[in-house]
Amino acid sequence: MFGDFKLNSKRPTYLQLKDYIKELILKGILLAGERLPSTRELSEILQIGRNTVIQAFQYLEDEGFIYTVQGQGSFVAEVAIKYEKSTFLPWESLLSKDAVLAGELDIEKTELKWERGMLSFKSIAPDGDLFEIEDFKRAFLDRFSLEGAKILNYGYAEGYKPLMEYLKDYLKNKGVDPEGKDLLITNGFTEGLNLVLAGITEPGDQLVTENPTHNTALKIMKLRNLKIHGVRLEEEGLDLEELEQVLSTTPIKAGFLIPSYHNPTGQVMSPEQRIEVLEIFSRYQVPIIEDGFNEELRYSGSHVAPLLALSGKGNNVVYIGSFSKILFPGIRIGWIMGDANLISALESIKRSMNIHTTFLDQALLYEYLQQGFFEKYLRKARRLYRERHETAIRLASRLIPHKKIRGEGGLHIFVELADELNAREVLSECYRRGVLFMPGEIFYTDGGGKNTFRLGISRVNEEEMEKGFKIIGEVVAKLKEEKDALL
Ligand SMILES: Cc1ncc(COP(=O)(O)O)c(C=O)c1O
Repeated sequence: MFGDFKLNSKRPTYLQLKDYIKELILKGILLAGERLPSTRELSEILQIGRNTVIQAFQYLEDEGFIYTVQGQGSFVAEVAIKYEKSTFLPWESLLSKDAVLAGELDIEKTELKWERGMLSFKSIAPDGDLFEIEDFKRAFLDRFSLEGAKILNYGYAEGYKPLMEYLKDYLKNKGVDPEGKDLLITNGFTEGLNLVLAGITEPGDQLVTENPTHNTALKIMKLRNLKIHGVRLEEEGLDLEELEQVLSTTPIKAGFLIPSYHNPTGQVMSPEQRIEVLEIFSRYQVPIIEDGFNEELRYSGSHVAPLLALSGKGNNVVYIGSFSKILFPGIRIGWIMGDANLISALESIKRSMNIHTTFLDQALLYEYLQQGFFEKYLRKARRLYRERHETAIRLASRLIPHKKIRGEGGLHIFVELADELNAREVLSECYRRGVLFMPGEIFYTDGGGKNTFRLGISRVNEEEMEKGFKIIGEVVAKLKEEKDALL
């Protein structure tokens, strides 16, 4: 016994020994009442320090696995764990309809996956190489030494106060009138939209969105059993006649819009259209859920105010913000700003779901923001992403036979192929040749967009774009030739 003890991890030796003896007891190799070797004997057998063994024994005693009899030594305690019968339940058939649907709509599971060596244009996550790790560490240490244990204890559902105040000011700088409004910190945009929809919809309710729109938003809506009316989003903007037609004929609960650097098209709604959209929704007394996720990635042109700012003192716009496309999506911080009564209701829903978003992360983000690291980083990130975006537009226009290429900003461009081409067919051939992208179909509310795809460009350089787009272009040209030959 004890001959097979091996140190094999970075965990402290006394804890590895504790785990090892515990396992011997749980497996029934060491029996209740059995005397353990003395700490001196065991340290000799295992060639480790006696203090290490003493510490391991102390922990085993604390956890009730051994006991000590004064003057006699340490003994294995009675541990009631031996129960050999294993029960297996058919979990697949026990799943709820929602769970099954969530699986079906989970593109991480259903779409083609990146494999080592592939060129991927699938993701629109920010480039981690741009993150200023030293600034982040400094912010962490500064804030942690200020707050100490406080930020490790329970906090408040609405969020970490200094961060909330910072974000309110941040939105005020974008022209938002805070009167009568409040803010709630969320786990990114994704929780934000879930909360807003939980707060204002019942299963079966109807929503209006741009068509195409963010696939995660569509998934969240479908999982809430909501009916989605997609309104055509063309290069010239949203089809306002269609919007008006939907709102005038259907009891719509809310609109969901991504006015700035829309996903997947990368378009920006013009200031004139923003006003018209607000007027149409106001006419039908329907709230707008505005997704402001990409606003910071403006590469050219002047500032365009969010709908929330344009709505002035009104309370008909619920804004969901997130820094996920720029800063650290891994810390999962977003926010909702809107009517104070609505936010109060959402706060209660959030508290019932996850109590609050981690205070450690909120405090750290706050320090990072308030020390001015964000502005510094944003200048650098914007410059680099603008270059990548321009390169992507230039290369895609030259290398990929297309009908349209759209994108005014953000971390992606959107390609529309000739009508008869199917982007999934293009993708499957490209995948074989080591290139991956996101088929556009997943962003459509009505199964359309079969001839479209999105190219994420945040984590690829010019050379990779040139190589990848060339392959995509060759595949598109070949498929087009084949289709033309059939005509
Ligand atoms: C349209 C849109 N909104 C918001 C987000 C950010 O979501 P989250 O903050 O949950 O990461 C994304 C991310 O891709 C997005 O595409």
